[in-house]
Amino acid sequence: VDDLASRLLVAAGIPLRYRSCRLDNFKVSAPEPAVRGQLAAALAECRAYADGFLEARGGVKEWGLLFVGPPGGGKTHLAAAVLMGLIERYRVRGRFVELTSLFRQLQNSFDPGAPVSQREILDPLVEAEVLLLDELGAQNPTPWVQDVLYLIINTRYAERRPTLFTTNYRLDEPAATGRAGPERQGSPAALSQRLSPMLVSRLWEMARPVRLEAVEDYRRELKMHRVRA
Ligand SMILES: Nc1ncnc2c1ncn2[C@@H]1O[C@H](COP(=O)(O)OP(=O)(O)OP(=O)(O)O)[C@@H](O)[C@H]1O
Ligand SMILES: [Mg+2]
Repeated sequence: VDDLASRLLVAAGIPLRYRSCRLDNFKVSAPEPAVRGQLAAALAECRAYADGFLEARGGVKEWGLLFVGPPGGGKTHLAAAVLMGLIERYRVRGRFVELTSLFRQLQNSFDPGAPVSQREILDPLVEAEVLLLDELGAQNPTPWVQDVLYLIINTRYAERRPTLFTTNYRLDEPAATGRAGPERQGSPAALSQRLSPMLVSRLWEMARPVRLEAVEDYRRELKMHRVRA
């Protein structure tokens, strides 16, 4: 990692907890074959994405990845690993954004005398060559939250800039969105209940789903000393 890459890594704003996350230290062993399969497939998707990031016809990928699954399944680990890998390999300007803290920061920017304006916070995110939006849907979807998400995501969509997303919410096939209805027994609420139909439809075009839905909470496994080998 050279000087430029380390500066870009710092500028990406990756939280300390995730700075050592790499595709190479993501473990794919689990007792159940179905879980193992999902972990291996997710890792393979990430590798393929990073390996193919530079398009043959010039430019970079115009689509991103959407990591879906319950808490502790490794979504942020993989997304951060992809982001850091792209920065190190291709020297892209990348940014990590945890959405709940972004909204808190934006709220503070409304105070009179606040050091930065909403635009100064949002412009670099809209313009980043690769953006990671962590915890999509976790925020109470007030009209303001929806507007901000729409501004960021739709501008990136229009400019064909790749975005990585993570979410705990269920991903419905496009045909099912809009009539998601009440929560299914035992399954998480649908992303379409947290985001406007316009945004959900953009997401399908902008990002390929990486499913970690069957994966257990790695944090709990660590606590129980049943760490995957
Ligand atoms: N397969 C794995 N191999 C190695 N470390 C893992 C794996 N899965 C998760 N971890 C580690 O476990 C912790 C929790 O993972 P992570 O934060 O990526 O989960 P998450 O799916 O983003 O959860 P949440 O929905 O709560 O944000 C992190 O420290 C991560 O590095
Ligand atoms: Mg996470």
